[in-house]
Amino acid sequence: MSAAMTERFSYSLNATDGKARTGVISTPRGEIRTPAFMPVGTAATVKAMLPESVAATGADILLGNTYHLMLRPGAERVERLGGLHRFMNWDKPILTDSGGFQVMSLAELRKLTEEGVTFRSHVDGSKHVLSPETSMEIQRQLGSDIVMCFDECPALPADETTVAQSMRLSMRWAQRSRDAFGDRPGHALFGIQQGGVTEDLRGESAEALTAIGFDGYAIGGLAVGEGQEAMFGVLDYAPGMLPEDKPRYLMGVGKPDDIVGAVKRGVDMMDCVLPSRSGRTGQAWTRRGQVNIKNARHADDPRPLDEACACPACTGYSRAYLHHVFRAGEMISGMLLTWHNLHYYQELMSHMRAAIAEGRFTAFEAQFHALRAEGDI
Ligand code: GUN
Ligand code: ZN
Repeated sequence: MSAAMTERFSYSLNATDGKARTGVISTPRGEIRTPAFMPVGTAATVKAMLPESVAATGADILLGNTYHLMLRPGAERVERLGGLHRFMNWDKPILTDSGGFQVMSLAELRKLTEEGVTFRSHVDGSKHVLSPETSMEIQRQLGSDIVMCFDECPALPADETTVAQSMRLSMRWAQRSRDAFGDRPGHALFGIQQGGVTEDLRGESAEALTAIGFDGYAIGGLAVGEGQEAMFGVLDYAPGMLPEDKPRYLMGVGKPDDIVGAVKRGVDMMDCVLPSRSGRTGQAWTRRGQVNIKNARHADDPRPLDEACACPACTGYSRAYLHHVFRAGEMISGMLLTWHNLHYYQELMSHMRAAIAEGRFTAFEAQFHALRAEGDI
């Protein structure tokens, strides 16, 4: 093991503005500036992007998925090939989700018990087991820098008894995840708060996790169909229930306005497939909101997608070209729009970090909403 790999994982909070925070997570693979947006590289690739291009957009960390990688190509194979960083040619930090959430949305013939979950692969129908112990082992084989606890996330709306029982199961699994993870210098284990949209349950979950002790704390079980108002309602109190001196990660969020609202309420990290997925379906995100490049109004438009954007799609191509290659089904369409979207998301994070550091987040937020209200012109 190199000297660098024995460095500890740490978080330093540099400034706050209201509840918004900016800081740095230090890992042996590099620093993560927070608030941070993590592009999603589910199957060991951020679709349509070279890893060096993802880094060029400003991303400090990627998200990978236990569920997908255990099924294909297999965690043991990734380990034999030198780990996920080497395998996918990304040497900065990687956070891996633990698999349970993806089993519930993707796998077939799922069976949930106290022990864990058995399921059949959506790829080839083969049978698998995930538990706190197997999830920790798979995330170790992948070489993940930030490992997520194995948890369960009930689909909302669900009655409170169901949400409470599910949350308590996740807290027992959090303790088992902690025990199985052990002591791995330079690697971090994050707990995941559950409890739906019920404040008491969120509080009980935060207490259980804090008593176990983690390197960071995620807010799970949101962005599962409750809507932005209900999500912000939970975010008005949930981050404050978690330790101030550790990073807080909101899982699976979101649209740009969700992200700004989450940062305002004290969230430090987020991930979402939206910028990459919508790039492949012709949706662009800009300072002025959403642009559908499929729309016929772009067919003759010589202007860039956003004249203020420094990404390759905006500096080298017209809306007319982006419209044409999307309509023609050309691969460069997904490449350029994904690049633009990831660039826009990272620039948004960078602007928020600067605004928090300089104590002008409120003004930043007003400007963000004012430009979007004008719309794409
Ligand atoms: N991704 C989005 N929400 C969740 C969650 O609640 N748990 C996990 N493990 N992953 C998520
Ligand atoms: Zn651009």
